[in-house]
Amino acid sequence: MVRTVKLNDGTSVPAMGWGNMGGKEKALNSGAVALRAGIKHIDSAQIYRTEAEVMGAINAAGMKREDVYITTKVFNMPNTPKLHSQQDLRTSVKRSLSELGCIPNLLLVHNPHIPAEGQLAEFWGWLEELVEDGTLKGCSLGVSNFRPVDLEEVMRVAKIKPVVNQIEYHPYVMTHVAPLIALHKQHNIITQAYASLAPTTRHPTGGPLKPILERIAAELTKESGVEVDSSGVLLLWIMTRGGVCITSSSSEERIKKMAALEKVRDLNEAEMGEIDAAGGKVHFRQWDEHLTTDFPSPDLPSDF
Ligand SMILES: NC(=O)c1ccc[n+]([C@@H]2O[C@H](COP(=O)([O-])OP(=O)(O)OC[C@H]3O[C@@H](n4cnc5c(N)ncnc54)[C@H](OP(=O)(O)O)[C@@H]3O)[C@@H](O)[C@H]2O)c1
Repeated sequence: MVRTVKLNDGTSVPAMGWGNMGGKEKALNSGAVALRAGIKHIDSAQIYRTEAEVMGAINAAGMKREDVYITTKVFNMPNTPKLHSQQDLRTSVKRSLSELGCIPNLLLVHNPHIPAEGQLAEFWGWLEELVEDGTLKGCSLGVSNFRPVDLEEVMRVAKIKPVVNQIEYHPYVMTHVAPLIALHKQHNIITQAYASLAPTTRHPTGGPLKPILERIAAELTKESGVEVDSSGVLLLWIMTRGGVCITSSSSEERIKKMAALEKVRDLNEAEMGEIDAAGGKVHFRQWDEHLTTDFPSPDLPSDF
């Protein structure tokens, strides 16, 4: 049994996904390791060039298509450089379906700059038509790296609401994205987190969260008998908030540790409060190119 999150279109998604960014070999071999370890959700994208390896990993793991939740994302690719018409988008999506060998469970707009300037609302309508005409039968629609302004533009016209917004999310961006998370709540859009491990794997010192995460990890390990590290606590923080975490690893040992978090309880109120308080004092982002234009970062130190 894995944790799942209910989406606003009535479907459910496993709360932990394994991202197959990082090359075909990783997507195939480590993807199969992740599936065998019990992770039931693979996050891919056109731009990763690893869509074909999703089914490759499923086959290598001896599993069936229906055992796995599959996400992909549309992007401007060399063979469809501009997604400026319904036909461009149809061609792009059909290429994804052919690479994947199936209709994904979830299709995301990779970022708000994929449609032409000023065409976001119209673009969303084209995606809806692909669901309605059966090209994307049964597929949920979502967005990624959307700022409040982008989400509001889509919500003004959406007949099919985005089910998730996939963004960099961890305690060190909490203050910055607070208005966006409020909008997610208002529209029942799930926060799908990537780069969730930035505080433990990217921050130069680990910052004020380091001792807190280490202590909680040690306590959870003792209590559950499952080896939990600081990165695992960050994934539990996302899932305890009702979010979906998209993480990754090419190490079999670390993948098994991620999967084993299913046997560990959610964080309690005191643990969440302590992480929120320390995380909210710092602003540190792994991916500066996303969510920063016209959405100012808070005036907070990156460490103290
Ligand atoms: N929508 C978007 O724009 C967007 C952007 C970026 C990423 N993503 C998605 O999110 C996925 C994850 O992205 P990310 O790499 O930024 O996520 P992340 O979960 O923050 O970091 C994963 C990295 O942390 C390391 N790691 C994993 N578990 C660890 C542990 N217990 N201790 C120490 N290190 C650990 C892994 O290295 P090892 O391989 O060495 O274990 C891997 O390089 C991607 O594959 C992709 O699917 C989406």
